[in-house]
Amino acid sequence: MPLHVAIIMDGNGRWARKKNLPRAAGHQAGFNTTRDIVEASAKRNIHALTLFAFSSENWARPEKEVGLLMDLFLRGLKSEVGKLSENNVRIRFIGERSAFSEKLQAEMASAEKTTVNNNGLKLAIAVNYGGRWDIVNAARHLAQQVKNKEIEPEQIDIQRFGHVLSLNDVPEPDLFIRTGGEKRISNYLLWQLAYTELYFTDVLYPDFDDAELDNAIAFYAGRQRRFGRTGEQVTGEDA
Ligand code: IPE
Ligand code: IPE
Ligand code: MG
Repeated sequence: MPLHVAIIMDGNGRWARKKNLPRAAGHQAGFNTTRDIVEASAKRNIHALTLFAFSSENWARPEKEVGLLMDLFLRGLKSEVGKLSENNVRIRFIGERSAFSEKLQAEMASAEKTTVNNNGLKLAIAVNYGGRWDIVNAARHLAQQVKNKEIEPEQIDIQRFGHVLSLNDVPEPDLFIRTGGEKRISNYLLWQLAYTELYFTDVLYPDFDDAELDNAIAFYAGRQRRFGRTGEQVTGEDA
């Protein structure tokens, strides 16, 4: 079983288009999928789930679409956090949140506070997130520590760098899923995906369900994770 799953939830717009519906309907349907996937992940004993909800590049969309995504986001937080917390889910947001409305920032902070002591599924939602932003932010943080004479430049290593990235409280994702058919990372978790198993499916996100999640998990179960070693080393045939 993958302990940490990271998903790019893509294909809402095309799903709506296929059905002759406005893009908003696609996002709403995607939201419903998310509710199911969070529940299904908790049931399958996945420890951490990281979802890409809004990228730093998504501001480039028409103002109307950005607005409705924000509305959906705000409504979603208001309606879901109570139940998620009852189900022991701990919620965190990663990304540059200062760009969001005060209201939304307050809801995000409140969701984190309400669920901070929960020890079930660790749900991270990436909003106004970009992998490059994350890395630059970490570099800036470390530079500041050097400037303050808290650390020496020589002390900056991979481990320390990883600690100042936004997903610093969970192991790196084991399984990455992108729905919607594109085979790209779109500036998602650039650092953390270094050794993640990548799964791409043509299924549009609103159609992604428990059975599709199980397909992705089955793909993962069939991989041999070698981390640079030989297959024989991994199976113990050549210790
Ligand atoms: C993903 O679906 C949702 C967000 C990026 C917020 P899209 O809206 O990108 O759907 P497509 O790619 O246009 O089908
Ligand atoms: C990636 O999807 C971001 C999210 C799912 C939030 P996009 O639909 O924005 O990705 P590109 O622009 O097609 O690469
Ligand atoms: Mg898309």
